[in-house]
Amino acid sequence: MLHRVQQTARYLGSAGADDRHATETARILRQLGADEELVVAGILHDAAKPANTLLWHRVAGVLLDAAPRVRARLARGRSTFARYLDHARRGAEMARNDGASERVVRLIARHHQRPVTEDERLLARADREALP
Ligand SMILES: [Fe+2]
Ligand SMILES: [Fe+2]
Repeated sequence: MLHRVQQTARYLGSAGADDRHATETARILRQLGADEELVVAGILHDAAKPANTLLWHRVAGVLLDAAPRVRARLARGRSTFARYLDHARRGAEMARNDGASERVVRLIARHHQRPVTEDERLLARADREALP
């Protein structure tokens, strides 16, 4: 029992906010009529985002969309910022290694790019509406 409480406390302390974002994204997708695969993509889309991502990482990430080559260079390496910049690609790789379908892998890989399919539009909308 105590072990479970400690486990839960550690879980909420480290990944609580991200976990809420994942479940909220999935909930909104269900509400929008998404099928189970799209809901899975919603749960997993930010799985590779570092737990200690800071606000400036997100702001800089948006600004760097205007400079893709600089962005790509900064996304290499092990720093929190590099792993944040690369989280869509890394998350897609993790999902593929875990046996996710190509549709799910692709949705995760592209979730910070301009949506071009109906699936991508739905995920982008749920992602945005699920922001804390
Ligand atoms: Fe993301
Ligand atoms: Fe997200």
